[in-house]
Amino acid sequence: MSLPLQKLGALDPLETASIDELRHRQLQRLRWSLNHAYTNVPFYRKAFTDLGIHPLDINCLEDLGKLGFTTKADLRDNYPYGMFATPMREIVRIHASSGTTGKPTVVGYTQNDINTWADVVARSIRAAGGHAGDKVHIAYGYGLFTGGLGAHYGAERLGCSVIPMSGGQTEKQVQLINDFGPDIIMVTPSYMLNIADEFDRQGIDPRKLPLRIGIFGAEPWTDSMRTELENRLGIQALDIYGLSEVMGPGVGMECAETKDGPTIWEDHFYPEIIDPATCEVLPDGEYGELVFTSLTKEAMPIVRYRTRDLTRLLPGTARPMRRIDKITGRSDDMLIIRGVNVFPTQVEEQILKIASLAPHYEIVVYRDGNLDCVDIRVELKPEANASDAETCQKVAKELQHHIKSCIGISTHVKVCNAGLLPRSEGKATRVFDKRK
Ligand code: DLL
Repeated sequence: MSLPLQKLGALDPLETASIDELRHRQLQRLRWSLNHAYTNVPFYRKAFTDLGIHPLDINCLEDLGKLGFTTKADLRDNYPYGMFATPMREIVRIHASSGTTGKPTVVGYTQNDINTWADVVARSIRAAGGHAGDKVHIAYGYGLFTGGLGAHYGAERLGCSVIPMSGGQTEKQVQLINDFGPDIIMVTPSYMLNIADEFDRQGIDPRKLPLRIGIFGAEPWTDSMRTELENRLGIQALDIYGLSEVMGPGVGMECAETKDGPTIWEDHFYPEIIDPATCEVLPDGEYGELVFTSLTKEAMPIVRYRTRDLTRLLPGTARPMRRIDKITGRSDDMLIIRGVNVFPTQVEEQILKIASLAPHYEIVVYRDGNLDCVDIRVELKPEANASDAETCQKVAKELQHHIKSCIGISTHVKVCNAGLLPRSEGKATRVFDKRK
């Protein structure tokens, strides 16, 4: 099912196909995928049968709405290999997401799946402005997490020279970026910030290095963070989206021409937006939860997977395929503070409005009697470090005021000098909800 190796630098034919052609191909692939899942995965056969639906009853893309959803709990219940649709001997790779509690979520790939994945990641790096011959420094973690190896195979597929650094060893990251001169870095935005601080600490100006593109994802980040990273590093910062259950990185990628949210590679991953409360499918343009159905995956087809990611579908710009808006957050990460819904990204936006603050922050939520309380800890930029408590208090008051007027919640803000909060080497943990 994987696309043939494309001429280096050229777009995949389906990337520029007309919407009609794309929808036609999606329907063909959807019917194959649903039939594959029904025939080979007892979980799907039962789910379809309970609804009285046979895959061949699906005659148009809208018919997908007749089927039920798949959740992370379904994957856990079928741990480890119950969702696989091919015999074990055809599985060439296994990844797993750690999950905060209990069993990890396990995903498998056939050789064709690995090829498709490399194709979509190669396509993603190209959409970011990368090309054959670029050196790509990969600081996503290698291992069971899909970030490192997913990025790696895609960069190789495009014809790049890969530097498989993985996460951690921040001093060494800086040394290698300085000595090897990569053109592209692939890393979480929070770890990029950490690496940028280390550049400053070592007295090296990253803007003087060849680095020109950052491909950042695996966690929510704001446009204000984009500006911060672009200015500090002298690069173009672009958003890559993905999740293990659907494939890994490269389910969608922001295009360098427009920088307006990731284009979903819809020829492989069919997106829907639903109202998370009623599960009703929402029209394009409306905010809700992103749901995916795989169209070409062999080892682990996935039908209407509820990602928990909140965003909306937007019309294509740089490509005919649809885009998603920047992910506001996961419904699991949404905090309800005295009845107000709050996402960490909203707090990040307010922090970055204040020139002396760095986007290193933590949100601690706890209960005082029956009242929800929020403490925000945030760092000053090194050049703004203060030796007196008054300066910190003044900035804290300013942030408290912005949060109250823009988000609508009262917080207690504590501003500290640079370097005092823990640093991320992968996905950052921003929220500590002690009410749970
Ligand atoms: O994070 C895959 C990935 C690796 C994507 C590297 C991009 C780059 P998981 O560990 O399964 O897979 O986590 C998937 O991370 O459902 C989102 O909540 C979040 N996420 C991923 N990319 C973005 C992004 C990888 N660009 C979960 N913006 C997803 C916001 C993102 N959130």
